[in-house]
Amino acid sequence: MTTVSSRDYAGPADLRAMQVLAQRLWSRASYHHVGDLAWQRFEHLGREPAWRTRIWRDGEAVVGWAWLVEAGHFYFQVDPAYSVLFDEVFDWIEAASDASALSTGVLENQPDLIAALQRRGYQAGSDAYPFNLKTARTLERLPPLVLPEGYRAASMAELGDPDARALAHRNAWSRIAGREDMPPSLSRVTGESYRNVMAAWPYRSDLDWAIVAPDGRWAANCCIWLDGANQVGELEPVGTDADFRRLGLGRGVCIAALHALRETGADQAIVTCRGDEAYPAPRKLYFELGFETYTRSYVYRRKRLA
Ligand SMILES: CC(C)(COP(=O)(O)OP(=O)(O)OC[C@H]1O[C@@H](n2cnc3c(N)ncnc32)[C@H](O)[C@@H]1OP(=O)(O)O)[C@@H](O)C(=O)NCCC(=O)NCCS
Repeated sequence: MTTVSSRDYAGPADLRAMQVLAQRLWSRASYHHVGDLAWQRFEHLGREPAWRTRIWRDGEAVVGWAWLVEAGHFYFQVDPAYSVLFDEVFDWIEAASDASALSTGVLENQPDLIAALQRRGYQAGSDAYPFNLKTARTLERLPPLVLPEGYRAASMAELGDPDARALAHRNAWSRIAGREDMPPSLSRVTGESYRNVMAAWPYRSDLDWAIVAPDGRWAANCCIWLDGANQVGELEPVGTDADFRRLGLGRGVCIAALHALRETGADQAIVTCRGDEAYPAPRKLYFELGFETYTRSYVYRRKRLA
């Protein structure tokens, strides 16, 4: 173990290294997929300076990483063969954050991580708090694509415009499902940040889909990230412009993207959605599309020790 060393994140090549570990460890007991790491790192501009990220390597091999995202919340991954590193990783996280409490998400089928967190004094939050479901479906027997008259599905391989794609994302994410009457919030996704997303591995324009409305607006969108080593694609993100909701376009754009995913030879799709009662719409959409829950997350928290 003396060969393990760590250093701070130094740029996009290090995200690729984190993804290598996520891909190597991928299973249904993984919190992270290569796609959500890319999306979360690049969806906004200018956040890198506010993040602390560290990577542990044994020689060239990445064996762990930790990413402090905001307000004491962190992501991390440690190769189970290097579980002796847990304490070093937590020591770094707890020293790197000045938040009054620390928190992270963990899956109920990650007993080793839960035990490690508990040993460090972290406790599960209550079920009243938002939590996520990890859901999956095979790519067999996909439903056919059916859209209202005048709407069509197209991928970014055809559409190609990052500014229009970013606008479609903002129009989908500025109003939450079921509360379209509320004043819109502003998503920070821009054409420039979407160009970074498109430059990130393993983005593929033929797996990033939109539904184009009769008036030319991009009414719904779904990006799938393919982990080709594990043949699993992750839907991230999915959205429908609030002016076009409940027309079947969210369903349609996912179906179009899932058909394209199947053509790559992948055999399953996954998507993460809220599992708590406060935000049921996305999970209803995915369940209706045949996705089934395979695990759920808990948030583990610890107040900073004096
Ligand atoms: C969730 C979202 C993508 C749904 O898009 P949509 O185009 O309105 O969905 P569809 O019309 O295809 O609906 C398909 C099914 O999903 C479910 N559904 C969609 N919106 C719902 C809502 N507000 N409440 C309850 N169920 C809902 C229904 O089962 C619906 O079928 P039905 O209309 O026949 O009852 C959209 O509301 C959205 O973009 N929300 C903000 C971003 C977001 O939360 N994305 C998902 C993150 S995981």
